[in-house]
Amino acid sequence: MIRLYHVTKTYRKEAAALQDVTLQIHPRQFCFVTGPSGAGKSTLLKLIIREEHPTSGQLLVNGRNLDTLTSHQLPYFRRRLGVVFQDFRLIPERTVYENVALLMTLQGVPVKERKRRAFESLRWVGLQNRLEAFPEELSGGEQQRVAIARALVNRPVILLADEPTGNLDPDLAHEIMKLFQEVNASGTTVVVATHDKGLIATFGGRVILLDRGRLVDDGE
Ligand SMILES: Nc1ncnc2c1ncn2[C@@H]1O[C@H](COP(=O)(O)OP(=O)(O)OP(=O)(O)O)[C@@H](O)[C@H]1O
Ligand SMILES: [Mg+2]
Repeated sequence: MIRLYHVTKTYRKEAAALQDVTLQIHPRQFCFVTGPSGAGKSTLLKLIIREEHPTSGQLLVNGRNLDTLTSHQLPYFRRRLGVVFQDFRLIPERTVYENVALLMTLQGVPVKERKRRAFESLRWVGLQNRLEAFPEELSGGEQQRVAIARALVNRPVILLADEPTGNLDPDLAHEIMKLFQEVNASGTTVVVATHDKGLIATFGGRVILLDRGRLVDDGE
């Protein structure tokens, strides 16, 4: 499902953000990626969605060798992935509903289906009453939930979430993790980057530990 083979990523000349990481994440697996700030968690997720390119090494995601993925193929590749970014990346000029539905609009999903899926996704995160709000009118936790709804709306094969509960209170964080477990139970591979030890202790599963770019424990 996801394979990294001797992956190194160096942004600048100094220490590598990821150093010679080899690991495999299996289909339908639920796993956490953890480690201190700067360990390389976000970098790992960015390489998997091909937002960043490795300096050396290879990645295979969803049966695709990312080396050979052309820019033309990239949108199709990304369609199968759901991504929750650490900084949300909502579009400020768009409403909650539009933020969630936009990708489907670009993909030509019929309007009725679009609405159904967007409403369903927003209901999952408890934001069905804020459809017309703009991101700036929402709290950090609400924005985070919009980002989660958007990541789930396409029923991704792989869900990658970077600190998805960082702005949520503990109850809400638990609700969101339970939602991810349900998504996982329906067949989606889920990868959650977090340094929330409590969350990991509660939800268990495989834990991949990074420290200063190195794979300390692959959790298998
Ligand atoms: N675009 C970039 N340009 C230069 N250096 C970067 C860039 N992105 C990340 N880095 C560096 O790479 C290292 C790993 O960063 P990364 O964001 O992957 O860590 P992280 O584990 O996600 O940390 P956090 O828990 O704070 O989110 C850090 O030293 C960081 O400063
Ligand atoms: Mg990060």
